[in-house]
Amino acid sequence: MWYKETLVYELHVRSFADGDGDGVGDFAGLIDRLDYLERLGVGALWLQPFYPSPLRDDGYDIADYCGINPAYGDLRDFRRFLREAHKRGLRVITELVLNHTSDQHPWFQRARQAKPGSPARDFYVWSDTPEKYRQARVIFKDFENSNWAFDPVAKAYYWHRFYAHQPDLNYDNPAVRQAMLKVVDFWLTMGVDGLRLDAVPYLFERPGTNCENLPETHAFLKDLRAHVDERFPGRMLLAEANQWPEDAVAYFGDGDECHMAFHFPVMPRIFMALWSEDRYPVIDIMEQTPAIPESCQWALFLRNHDELTLEMVSDEERDAMYRAYARDAQARINLGIRRRLAPLMQNDRRRMELINILLLSFPGTPILYYGDEIGMGDDLSLPERYCARTPMQWSNEKQGGFSSAEKTYLPVISEGVYGWEQVNVADQRRDPDSFLNWMERMIRTRQETQEIGWGAFEVVDVGHDAVLCLRYEWRNNVAVFLHNFHPEGVTVRFSLVAPEGEPNRLVNLLSEDHAQGDAKGRYELTLEPYGYRWFRMGGLDYAYRRTEL
Ligand code: BGC
Repeated sequence: MWYKETLVYELHVRSFADGDGDGVGDFAGLIDRLDYLERLGVGALWLQPFYPSPLRDDGYDIADYCGINPAYGDLRDFRRFLREAHKRGLRVITELVLNHTSDQHPWFQRARQAKPGSPARDFYVWSDTPEKYRQARVIFKDFENSNWAFDPVAKAYYWHRFYAHQPDLNYDNPAVRQAMLKVVDFWLTMGVDGLRLDAVPYLFERPGTNCENLPETHAFLKDLRAHVDERFPGRMLLAEANQWPEDAVAYFGDGDECHMAFHFPVMPRIFMALWSEDRYPVIDIMEQTPAIPESCQWALFLRNHDELTLEMVSDEERDAMYRAYARDAQARINLGIRRRLAPLMQNDRRRMELINILLLSFPGTPILYYGDEIGMGDDLSLPERYCARTPMQWSNEKQGGFSSAEKTYLPVISEGVYGWEQVNVADQRRDPDSFLNWMERMIRTRQETQEIGWGAFEVVDVGHDAVLCLRYEWRNNVAVFLHNFHPEGVTVRFSLVAPEGEPNRLVNLLSEDHAQGDAKGRYELTLEPYGYRWFRMGGLDYAYRRTEL
């Protein structure tokens, strides 16, 4: 159950490091940077799709599930990467894009030529009219106005939940389910530790429904899980289901579907709390989140390769988020905001620390997006979500140390406060006070805080709306985290009972600034503007007691 208490780092091979100097990141470059990731302290890497693809959706449009895009290397390179990652104790999570393929995939090319009703044709979802399944929403609202597209070769409409060049596979066809299990076997046999199940709510379609989270989808996932458990025990399935908590939680089943699921609605509420200087939005969503089976874990994130999605908030909340974080219409896309974390925090170090601290102290496994650990910016002149997918900034050298080529797949950010001369790994490594060094320290401290991954948590009332206090308990360890959303200092008073035999003292995990409670366990302390504390209860020599699971 490694996924219960790890940190995941998300990256795209093409954005990370270019080993062969052609301007595109590759596995050779990534292998060279594994020491960096090991030192950062993360426990797992999530690689976005690196398969052969026309790249009209950055690789989520797959043309061959069992190959490597030649621009990034070949299967030998991938195997070497896997070995090198494992050698450093890093687990590897890859993408299983179940729902759709590229229209260039041989399955689709065959399907459009095949006779209606034949097994080859039925790999995809066809219709003579675009009227079916009207209740299904259009997800890429800025780019598509229907979930149907007409194919002149097939002379029929095919179903697609995303771009029209990504036809949805037909999971009612047993041959499709079988083919996908083969893909799973291919990568898990090679040694991949986990699979992110992309766009998993949309596998099946049924009339009269919104075609999301259907019972048939859950039944398929149970079969998939049984298949994996039988052949590859210990591997992990992560559901990407952008849904309200009560629907997302269903992807855990009774502990017999996915091991992990993204908790989408928490994310915008962290931003809302910060903006409104009020803990209420996060407390509210935590209260709406049902308990999960013990073997399962939420995957939490602040930003990723997609827009900061605002689908799981009310209309008023969405307007407030736009006003707070994306006044400039250029920063918006679909139902969301396409900015990176540092610009969203206006590059204010205090807010960048606070928001990351919140992510690290929330109940679940944190996922960090490459470049956010150094405060990289975005390039809004680039189309779509590509603004936040620019090359990693490694050093104060040409192309930010990403590549020796004159031209890179997307330009390296070179101007202003986020340009590579200002923001890069090498400079921040040398500066003990850099954001990167702060992140490294926090990641390591988080890795030592087993209470979060395993323990029960509660929100402690400290009598101030702007301060969120979380308390976790796990096998006699008690950890307490305080976060101040207010731009001014705030004094709070609260009571906490120490574990049996321990003094009433909160030991600061990050500095000498401990907090002494009175005999009744009452505390008073002042948090700086956007300040935070990470405490553990007990004596000063109270080191973390790691328990064998
Ligand atoms: C991925 C997106 C992608 C979409 C369609 C999503 O869930 O995160 O980046 O565009 O699936 O494949």
